[in-house]
Amino acid sequence: MKENNFALCDQYIENLFADEGDDLKSIIHLIEENGLPQQSISASQGKFLQVMATACNAKHILEIGTFLGYSTVWLARAVADGGRVITLETDESFAKLAEQSLQRCNVNHLVELRKGPALDQLQLMMQENLPPFDLVFIDADKPAYCDYLQLCRKLCRKGSIIIADNVIRDGKVLEVDSTDEKVIGVQRFNKMLSECNDFTSTLIQTVGKKEHDGIAIAVMK
Ligand code: DHB
Ligand code: MG
Repeated sequence: MKENNFALCDQYIENLFADEGDDLKSIIHLIEENGLPQQSISASQGKFLQVMATACNAKHILEIGTFLGYSTVWLARAVADGGRVITLETDESFAKLAEQSLQRCNVNHLVELRKGPALDQLQLMMQENLPPFDLVFIDADKPAYCDYLQLCRKLCRKGSIIIADNVIRDGKVLEVDSTDEKVIGVQRFNKMLSECNDFTSTLIQTVGKKEHDGIAIAVMK
């Protein structure tokens, strides 16, 4: 299939299943207006997260890496009754903009945005006796992916689903001599996940409007 068809088919999927609506589009505009990279997930990927959240009746959702809140809104809109999303963002300015986005999209009552380095936040959460997370979405700084996985599993339970973004990186994961710290981060993560007996897991390649990439999906055993 020709590569430009990927974007057209993604649009076809969005038209059928993943209407962004004006409020989610406003987050994409906010990213543009602030001169930030368009590195949020796509609408079809947002819908995929909702399908997964619904499949496991997710009440407690953890997101690592809020950015401007685009994926957070998709997740919040799929949370089970009485549930919420805890989302972690290191960057103060992203967190501020995300707060605006969550309000504009009317999901602020379903989301708790915690600011500060995610590794510190995760350590703190372990002392809080929170109910285990049903679903975790990791979409933050790539070099720390392994650390996030290690900490997340302590906050999860049998049957919890962990999804991680950007694990193929346009095929750069194949470069064994890569010096790109993001590539090295996801290579280490993919290897760790593949060797981890606590999970049944795989990687799924993603094509569409965004560059060729992939997500990891793991279910805790
Ligand atoms: C990058 C990060 C992302 O979360 C993404 O979806 C795409 C790219 C990056 O840091 O390069
Ligand atoms: Mg990403």
